[in-house]
Amino acid sequence: MEALITLLPGDGIGPEVTAAAHRVLKTVADIHGHTFTFDVRLIGGAAIDKTRNPLPADTVASCMESSAVFLGAVGGPRWSGPHVSVRPEKGLLELRSVLGVYANLRPVLVIDELIDASPLKPEYLSGVDLIVVRELTGGIYFGKKTRDETLATDLCTYHTHEIERIVRVAAKLATGRRGKLCSVDKANVLETSRLWRDVTDKTIAREFPDIEVETLLVDAAAMHLLSRPKDFDVIVTENMFGDILTDEASMLTGSLGMLPSASLGDSARGLFEPIHGSAPDIAGKDIANPCGAIASAALLLRHSLGLASEADMVEGAIRKAIQAGARTADIATAEGTSLSTTAMTDLIIDQLN
Ligand code: IPM
Ligand code: MN
Repeated sequence: MEALITLLPGDGIGPEVTAAAHRVLKTVADIHGHTFTFDVRLIGGAAIDKTRNPLPADTVASCMESSAVFLGAVGGPRWSGPHVSVRPEKGLLELRSVLGVYANLRPVLVIDELIDASPLKPEYLSGVDLIVVRELTGGIYFGKKTRDETLATDLCTYHTHEIERIVRVAAKLATGRRGKLCSVDKANVLETSRLWRDVTDKTIAREFPDIEVETLLVDAAAMHLLSRPKDFDVIVTENMFGDILTDEASMLTGSLGMLPSASLGDSARGLFEPIHGSAPDIAGKDIANPCGAIASAALLLRHSLGLASEADMVEGAIRKAIQAGARTADIATAEGTSLSTTAMTDLIIDQLN
């Protein structure tokens, strides 16, 4: 097949992990006879430096023309602090909004060989296979903000239709998995959460009566994720809770660097990014873990290009490389050596060939 893919390397380790995903996508195209064309554009701090805009118009235009968008990471100390008027993160939030990608899928799958890399006890980890469906274009991230000398506000808003559509995505996913859905809110305190709970209950009762539903308050969910992670199948939650819970959940897999994500809307065009940030402390050193980025490329193949077997192959290659002992520093054992980003990517590509 032919596909145009926009690459947005961004900031910090973004360019390094994007290069890894790019190499994997090129290898998949060569092996399977596809023609992927890549268009590299600016976003985030890199875009602010060159254009003073974290999401330049030509970046948006490229994304709108492409079949899928891959993003590395945005942000860094150079573009944060009191003196800064526009932040890199604004570019990413606007992009999610412009693309209409309201459903952020964050799979958390424990690979047995990495159990040692997690600070948690092994008996809790083997067999963990859950997916967090994070609402991505609403809530406190997108509400009106105010700030003066002594007062700041962030408004959290949710419409019924925004809750219905994300619950449908999560329930459909659960239907194809173990049929279990856990909805996370803070309905004992927040009005938006009370609406979230009502709409979730009604939508499930009306459209997905066969699904087993559990509701948790977000503080309890944070604890249950560590005390009984294997019980979870699909977790659905609002934007900020999903952001926080997935960084927590990543430690089940051994490292934040392992987790991929797919952001989807009503069209096939998705935005794919590892869930880690720009990690400025290790940027430019060729030591970042490329697995989350490469697994995001697999999600791109599956969800935007409809190439399910190619996606399976990429996920299999990551697993096999790890099973063969390949480790970047974040997942290395005390006695083992750790590979560079480039060398880790080489070993994953070897598994593809
Ligand atoms: C993420 C990131 C972003 C978010 C930042 C960079 C705006 O933390 O994708 O999880 O909060 O959504
Ligand atoms: Mn995050």
